[in-house]
Amino acid sequence: MINLKQLAAEKAVEQVESGMIVGLGTGSTAYWAIEKIGEKVKSKQLNIKAIATSKRSEEQARGLGIPIISFAEIDAIDITIDGADESDHNLHLIKGGGGALLREKIVASNSRKLVIVADESKLVQHLGKYALPVDVVTFGWEKTFQKLEALGCIPKLRLDDGKPYLTDNANYILDCAFGEIHDPATLHEKINAITGVVDNGLFINLASQLIIASAGGEIKTILK
Ligand code: 5RP
Repeated sequence: MINLKQLAAEKAVEQVESGMIVGLGTGSTAYWAIEKIGEKVKSKQLNIKAIATSKRSEEQARGLGIPIISFAEIDAIDITIDGADESDHNLHLIKGGGGALLREKIVASNSRKLVIVADESKLVQHLGKYALPVDVVTFGWEKTFQKLEALGCIPKLRLDDGKPYLTDNANYILDCAFGEIHDPATLHEKINAITGVVDNGLFINLASQLIIASAGGEIKTILK
């Protein structure tokens, strides 16, 4: 059976060139992009440096011999390849299913090009079927929860083995079921205006390209 996530991810890696600073995404689709980049680095087809969006992806990259650098050493990231939980046709996204939305957004906002890779199930008419992950500080999270609820969603504290899930930056995630989101930009602002919210998984006007693989192996690229 064709692995659609792998197909989309490997297509995106074709855009990576030697000399580039590359942002490495997080999740089961971005995983394949990191594997492919690692393969090309190993065979000396690529000479790049990378910044990862999570400890998990950084560990994978280091294991493959991909050189990791810090923000202090660079001006900007040339290209980032990452997954998404949902994308609409304007390339507004919901991200954070893997809990890495904060680092993902920092990397995305400092990238010249953000290429999103996904299987066809991620392309939607309206965002919001997927509960929106919101990264919150642990202190007073119960009050942050109530303020999010007042925006009209059903929030849920993300758990891991019965305990609150902790992000790489030691925050909690509240998964907020809003239903269909018709004005993602306004919602993004309202959520981030709540004290206690670090950031939310709406990625507005950040993606430059969406590479979607469909059953049968067809690959479609949507440009912003
Ligand atoms: C992690 C993310 C991922 O990109 C998103 O959850 C998609 O993951 P996958 O490729 O495993 O479906 O935002 O925080």
